[in-house]
Amino acid sequence: MTRPEIQPFTDEHLADAGRLLATRHRRHRAAQPDLSPAFEDAATAKERVEAALAADDASGAVALRGDTVVGFLLGAPKQSKTWGPNLWVESAGQALADDEPAETVRDLYAAAATRWVDEGRTAQYVVVPATDVALLDAWYRLGFGHQQAHALRAPLATDPRIAVGLVVRRAVRDDIPTLARLDVALPQHQGLSPTFSAGEQGSVEEAQEEWEEDFDDPEFTTFVAEHDGRVIGSAVACDLTKSGSNEGLMRPEKAGFLGFAAVLPEARGLGAGRALGETVLAWARDTGYPVVATDWRATNLLSSRTWTALGFVPTFQRLHRTIGY
Ligand SMILES: CC(C)(COP(=O)(O)OP(=O)(O)OC[C@H]1O[C@@H](n2cnc3c(N)ncnc32)[C@H](O)[C@@H]1OP(=O)(O)O)[C@@H](O)C(=O)NCCC(=O)NCCS
Repeated sequence: MTRPEIQPFTDEHLADAGRLLATRHRRHRAAQPDLSPAFEDAATAKERVEAALAADDASGAVALRGDTVVGFLLGAPKQSKTWGPNLWVESAGQALADDEPAETVRDLYAAAATRWVDEGRTAQYVVVPATDVALLDAWYRLGFGHQQAHALRAPLATDPRIAVGLVVRRAVRDDIPTLARLDVALPQHQGLSPTFSAGEQGSVEEAQEEWEEDFDDPEFTTFVAEHDGRVIGSAVACDLTKSGSNEGLMRPEKAGFLGFAAVLPEARGLGAGRALGETVLAWARDTGYPVVATDWRATNLLSSRTWTALGFVPTFQRLHRTIGY
């Protein structure tokens, strides 16, 4: 097959990009029907592309065969320092026509990344449908590696499995000092090998102050796990709309969210993670959510194994590349 012609993405490509994104999402939902049907509509998909293009310093490329747009790629930087001198292609930032080879995304990237790197945006992130193996492979062959998984599963149909010696219950105010320690335990773990996350590591004191202020917020449901009468783990459940990183085409119409979970280092591997996770899955069922979301760092050995073991299936993978070395 000949290579398509590559041009810069402009306003005039929005309608075609919306159609391509809707088509991509239809393919995606054939494998993962829990994703929202709304984005199968070209006008709704176009709104997401419009929003991506409206972001400060957004730019990208389109692939043309004759007059037909057969693919697009669109990225923009985030202001947060956490991500370095960054450029993000979010869930609405790329699509190829049904019969267009995934290889074309490499041509699109080559064109778009010229400007991204000229602008100094060398820490690059791209969100890819997890079911599109050929597209993932094309990105791997552009030097990108797997950084984060965004996943869904159905709520629990049975009672949660709670290992012998463990108790899971709703948190009470007296738990706040331990909840604060657990809040810090997550970024501490993710700062270690092999994740090496640069995420902010706040202090236990700061976490405790936040808990004192927010403990009664009805939008969040907190569970704790006890072992031998001592709190050793916690999990926070809420509506998925509370998550800033699970949005756009990742977000089902209605979903619960396992937004946080941690077990103190000395108590890991006893089954508390499963007990807390399954309790959140039962909470989601009782609250009326048809599906539950969570996400994890691919390099976090503990969470990637635990949430996979609990039956979460990735819907989108975030890939990452650092340029210059
Ligand atoms: C992730 C975390 C909450 C899991 O809690 P945990 O109490 O250690 O996990 P569990 O003992 O319940 O194990 C849960 C499942 O993960 C799997 N698992 C755990 N450790 C594993 C290992 N070393 N190898 C393979 N599978 C493993 C097991 O299959 C287990 O499933 P099972 O019940 O079928 O045996 C905990 O390890 C933790 O706090 N990690 C650091 C903070 C963190 O990463 N939080 C999550 C952020 S997304």
